[in-house]
Amino acid sequence: MRRAKISVIGAGNVGATCAHWAAAKELGDIVLLDIPDKEGVAKGKALDLLCCGPIERFDSRVTGTSDYRDIAGSDVVVVTAGIPRKPGMSRDDLIQTNVQIVKSVSEKIREFAPESIVIVVSNPLDAMVYTAWKATGFPTHRIMGQAGSLDVARFRTFIAMEIGCSIEDISALLLGGHGDDMVPLPRFTSVHGIPVQNLLSKEKIDACVERAKVGGGEIVKLMGTSAYYAPASGTIQMVEAIVKDKKRIIPSAAYCEDEFNVAPGQKGKGYFVGVPALLGSKGVEKIVAVKLDADEQKLMDESVSHVKDLVATVRKLFPELG
Ligand code: NAI
Ligand code: 2OP
Repeated sequence: MRRAKISVIGAGNVGATCAHWAAAKELGDIVLLDIPDKEGVAKGKALDLLCCGPIERFDSRVTGTSDYRDIAGSDVVVVTAGIPRKPGMSRDDLIQTNVQIVKSVSEKIREFAPESIVIVVSNPLDAMVYTAWKATGFPTHRIMGQAGSLDVARFRTFIAMEIGCSIEDISALLLGGHGDDMVPLPRFTSVHGIPVQNLLSKEKIDACVERAKVGGGEIVKLMGTSAYYAPASGTIQMVEAIVKDKKRIIPSAAYCEDEFNVAPGQKGKGYFVGVPALLGSKGVEKIVAVKLDADEQKLMDESVSHVKDLVATVRKLFPELG
């Protein structure tokens, strides 16, 4: 059986940690690529990881490079290239720098890995997924962003901490953009099938919702740069669903038009926002649309409107992207 090939662009904190989780789960061979100035870092981290193989018992080949020819034949390309936020910055403050980086990286992916499925991680996430879509020209099912798998993991963690039970028993849904206006949905959150409202007061649930929304910022304040263990873990959860064709439903930034009222009736002019997406070997194979109540839809509309503003900024910076 052919091994999957997973390329990770950007060998920084998130990129290298993606390579780490992917190797530990032996999901395939891994290429870690960075700019020529950081080729040594990409090669060094790859070699370091490779040497975990005998201990952790994986046979994944892990290589570092700055040469895009090495990503040829990738099944999945993960884009983590770009600057992270520092204390006091929002994800949106990164747009000017990261849109240029993600655009140039995407053009290389189009050239060297034209059949791949792309998972964007760089921030501001939803606008960077849009940039990658336009710059690669790939069909929408082969472009997606990682945010929801992280954000919902944070929400599940805080609910489990509050109840004092295993995180394995918490199931939750979260929608919207990867901003502080993301939409965790308590109505679709359960503890081994028991609605969370039966076990926690509204105040406690609201506190978990709020902490999930600003969870990224909480970590930036603590360590001076953005999180990477859980973001990479969320990304590799998506990679695993794709390379193993698992058909998992994972909240992902996926292309929507009518779904969740994102861009109703606007054929070809939709947006990428966080929705429950069924991920398999073809990429986003289906969006699982659920009916929201009026309050939930209002929160979703606000979050989507923020994503649209960010995309408008991308269009202003690069009108040729369309
Ligand atoms: P980092 O600074 O540790 O690593 C970024 C890497 O990208 C650096 O090694 C840099 O040399 C590389 N890079 C820059 N331009 C490049 C180019 N043109 N081609 C290839 N590589 C290039 O940053 P970190 O912490 O890994 O974060 C990366 C991005 O991921 C940031 O934009 C951050 O905001 C975002 N992020 C997104 C999350 C999400 O849930 N979607 C969560 C955490 C971070
Ligand atoms: C996070 O949520 C900054 O997007 C990054 O940790």
